Amino acid sequence: MNSVKTGKIYGINGPVIYLKGRSEFKMSEMVYVGSQKLVGEVIGLDKDLTTIQVYEETSGLQPGEEVVGTDAAVSVTLAPGILDNIFDGIERPLEKIAEEGGAFVVRGVNVDSLDTEKRWETHITVQEGELVHGGTVIAEVQETRAIVHKCMVPPDLEGTVVSVKPDGQYTIQDVIVTVELMDGTRKDLTMTQRWPIRVPRPVHHRYPASVPLVTGQRILDTMFPIAKGGTAAIPGGFGTGKTMTQHQIAKWSDADIIIYIGCGERGNEMTQVLEEFSELVDPKSGNPLMDRTTLIANTSNMPVAAREASIYTGLTLAEYYRDMGYDVAIMADSTSRWAEALRELSGRLEEMPAEEGFPAYLASRLSAFYERAGMMQTLNGATGSVSIIGAVSPQGGDFSEPVTQNTKRFVRCFWGLDKSLAYARHFPAIHWLSSYSEYLNDLSGWYSDHVSPKFVDYRNRLMALLNQESSLMEIVKLIGGDVLPDDQKLILEIARVIRLGFLQQNAFHKDDTCVSMEKQFKMMDVILYLYKKSRELVAMGMPMSVLKAEGIFEKVIAIKYDVPNDNLQLLDLYKNDIDAFYNRVIEKNA
Ligand SMILES: Nc1ncnc2c1ncn2[C@@H]1O[C@H](COP(=O)(O)OP(=O)(O)O)[C@@H](O)[C@H]1O
Ligand SMILES: [Mg+2]
Repeated sequence: MNSVKTGKIYGINGPVIYLKGRSEFKMSEMVYVGSQKLVGEVIGLDKDLTTIQVYEETSGLQPGEEVVGTDAAVSVTLAPGILDNIFDGIERPLEKIAEEGGAFVVRGVNVDSLDTEKRWETHITVQEGELVHGGTVIAEVQETRAIVHKCMVPPDLEGTVVSVKPDGQYTIQDVIVTVELMDGTRKDLTMTQRWPIRVPRPVHHRYPASVPLVTGQRILDTMFPIAKGGTAAIPGGFGTGKTMTQHQIAKWSDADIIIYIGCGERGNEMTQVLEEFSELVDPKSGNPLMDRTTLIANTSNMPVAAREASIYTGLTLAEYYRDMGYDVAIMADSTSRWAEALRELSGRLEEMPAEEGFPAYLASRLSAFYERAGMMQTLNGATGSVSIIGAVSPQGGDFSEPVTQNTKRFVRCFWGLDKSLAYARHFPAIHWLSSYSEYLNDLSGWYSDHVSPKFVDYRNRLMALLNQESSLMEIVKLIGGDVLPDDQKLILEIARVIRLGFLQQNAFHKDDTCVSMEKQFKMMDVILYLYKKSRELVAMGMPMSVLKAEGIFEKVIAIKYDVPNDNLQLLDLYKNDIDAFYNRVIEKNA
């Protein structure tokens, strides 16, 4: 062991402290600051000045107090006990801190990230004599009802197993396997690994996107899908539905594990999110959703440095479960508050500000964040993914500001929330004209194989009708809708069916809240059949007023409520209704 390195505080500026003279700390080293042992990180090493950001409230701290090095980068503890837990930005359990310190956040308390006393029922999966390397699963623990935790050999370690414990009950600090390394030294392995939060965990290789993260939300799955291992941004002003959209994805998507990073929202809002999450029921199992969820919370009154770190803590936890072969989805709400933390820290460091006071490295930080998403072959050969969905909350919903613009450069899905849609209570208020997904091509093979070969074509036809509606509306605004020929009136009517019947989706309705790909496809099929038959009628000279009087458009709009998810055969009857409508109109006007 190296001797402990120390220094003395020279200056304090909010969350940033300075030490004078040359220090022996390393860049990114974790340090304990002052008599209360506040957690900090070395972020600058000049020849005569050391800069440290402190993850805790620094009031009361004084020049002259000691700073002690730890000889390790800021890291998280990885072991069973991460799920069904709530942490702050540097993986300290919030409930635990509350118990020890009597308040929501206390400073410098040295609590373990994970429970070190709990005994887990452990099944050892390696044998003496076995060759193991980074990623090899050495033990399995049923962490929650939903998830089997796979304890792995840490990356960069290779050797032969020389002794194993029998299956039984162990804590995360008990030695369960001993390995002899290539150089003959022995290494005891427990269920615990540590990993520096700012360094991506290694993988074997990255796969191209090919499988969608199915969310049950039509505007996403059909119109603007995200791949497993993909990235998406949800920008929108206050109250447009960022949190709601993320909750819907957390609840209904086919990710195995959800990491929810609540970043910089107001304390009461966050409490509400945390409470809501604790109550959510996993529709797949009927058990609490927390069985496969971890929450990381940093409210606006918590220290900005910890908010900055919370994103990386979340990423590292996600990568760890990915390495076990799980599909993990990260929800970050909101990345704007995270960018504001960067701005504040940068200001304290008196760095040269770029656009709107944000540091020049805002773009590279955002890029590095989203780059850690991906569908990967892990070190042990399994396939796992990290998908990242970041909410962006631009002031006044103005997408031209730097965080939205820079985010747009690095994500491949953009789900633009629209104030006027939210105001008109069209939910989800994701605007079909400002949103896009670059995964559509990557996923077309999957849709073709798993839903229908016609899926992408149908999707594109709906999109084309919506685009035509938008152009026609320009004319309607100028001269009114009455003068439009009937074939164009029909386009407006069908686009209305698509908007109300398909794009709008009610998160509070038991059948509409989550819809299978099969139902999404069949709904498109019915809408396009209605369009085809109506177009034939219009071509025969039937006026739109006659078609509308039949009520068939309203009936198709109501499919989402009238066809229960467990009785999709009902959908096939709608084509009969459309045929009957067609015959009626012809008879009446013959
Ligand atoms: N998909 C949806 N279905 C029904 N209501 C919604 C939906 N999305 C948003 N809302 C409504 O909008 C409100 C505000 O949404 P929220 O997600 O809290 O906004 P934000 O996080 O952008 O400030 C919700 O409380 C809800 O009433
Ligand atoms: Mg919100």
